[in-house]
Amino acid sequence: MTLSADASFLDTEDTEPYSFYESVRERGDVVWDEGMKAFLVVGNQAARQVLQDDALFMHPFTTMQAGSAYAKIRGENPRSFFFLHGEKHREMHRWWVRDLLSPQWVGRYRPSAVEPAINSLLDGLQGRPRFDLVKDYIAHLPVQVFARLLDLPRKDAEFLTQLKRLNDDIAAFASLASALKLEGEVSAHTQALTQRAVAAAQELDEILRPIVAARRGSDGQDMISRLWAGGPAIFADWNEVDSLDACRRLLFAGIDTTTHAMANAWYMLLTDDTLMKQVREGGRPAVERFAEEALRLNGTVQFRSRRVTADTEVAGVPIAKGQMVVVILMAANRDPSVFTCPHAVDMERPQPRNHLSFLTGPRSCPGATLARAELVDGMHAMLERYPRLRLAPGEKPSFHGFMMRSYGPLIVETNQ
Ligand code: HEM
Repeated sequence: MTLSADASFLDTEDTEPYSFYESVRERGDVVWDEGMKAFLVVGNQAARQVLQDDALFMHPFTTMQAGSAYAKIRGENPRSFFFLHGEKHREMHRWWVRDLLSPQWVGRYRPSAVEPAINSLLDGLQGRPRFDLVKDYIAHLPVQVFARLLDLPRKDAEFLTQLKRLNDDIAAFASLASALKLEGEVSAHTQALTQRAVAAAQELDEILRPIVAARRGSDGQDMISRLWAGGPAIFADWNEVDSLDACRRLLFAGIDTTTHAMANAWYMLLTDDTLMKQVREGGRPAVERFAEEALRLNGTVQFRSRRVTADTEVAGVPIAKGQMVVVILMAANRDPSVFTCPHAVDMERPQPRNHLSFLTGPRSCPGATLARAELVDGMHAMLERYPRLRLAPGEKPSFHGFMMRSYGPLIVETNQ
């Protein structure tokens, strides 16, 4: 099946794409998009099939035109987590999931990194009757947590704003690359963005390198020391480039993603009084339930792309070797054959975590437990601190972005 000639996923940028996803679904679970030069996968079962098999449906970064810029951003390190495949990737992934960011370690980091970050931001807002929940709270939380996880010597606002700016420059490039907009002819504007991202990665390296080098051999509980301690089990000659790259991976994978997810969850609460009341009254368990529904319906990452390595078939649609598939996670999360009332929040949904917002399979997100901790603790603390928080009258936040999308601005009044 093919989309009509005048419709492409590309046209949904900066909009809520959900009616577009349903129009694709009417044509099938796997549909060709001529504008994107890729198959869109919207069915849940088809999405799982693609995501489970990363040999047949390969992570495309090394084979993309944007690959050389990616390599520079990753310090020309071919054994970066970002580029690994096969058994070596499995080993690295297991380490991150079962050790570095395991529920046990996140449990330890909650009081030492997540709670202090939340409290310092909330204290900074004290006395302000009106603020932008995104710009003044949400956007700072993940980078504050990152600074504490790594126990960076500086945690002041100026330094963290610099880190965030560098991360934003890299994210702007990654967003275009993931959307396959760097394949084929590339505009001068895009080239400039790419150069800015490479420069930002270098500046970030200069900041982190001496800190990383100084922690070699340390038996600390911070992430940098733990990277040094655990790395040699993956690569016997684990070195400074590897530790540095892993730090960048943590920053890059964990900052924007979590920020967008929090903005979306807050938007949903602030625009639905009944839901807000239900979540407030239900306390932490209700916040946890709601967070999963927010992730399912409006999780950060709308889609991920993969390149097919051999002729195959998905949901009865033949796909040739070399073609791209774009797995639309937020469409698979609304598949009516899996989720009853797929577009609505259901606080009693059985198996609330049965969504694909953190992917599934060998490349699933190792940061999911940490992201959930930030999302739930950050929301719960804000709700407790401000019992009458509401969207300022007349505010109409819009949905923006492409690969990652979220609502903003979220101007709120505390009514205190
Ligand atoms: C709500 C927040 C988050 C969302 C929605 C999210 C989502 C995702 C998704 C969809 C992927 C798969 C990318 C792909 O292979 O195509 C991924 C990978 C990854 N995520 Fe997250 N993520 C979040 C937060 C975090 C955090 C907080 C961290 C770490 C601090 C993290 C670390 C990673 C890493 C290291 C990978 C790469 C895994 C691999 O290549 O096998 N993520 N994430």
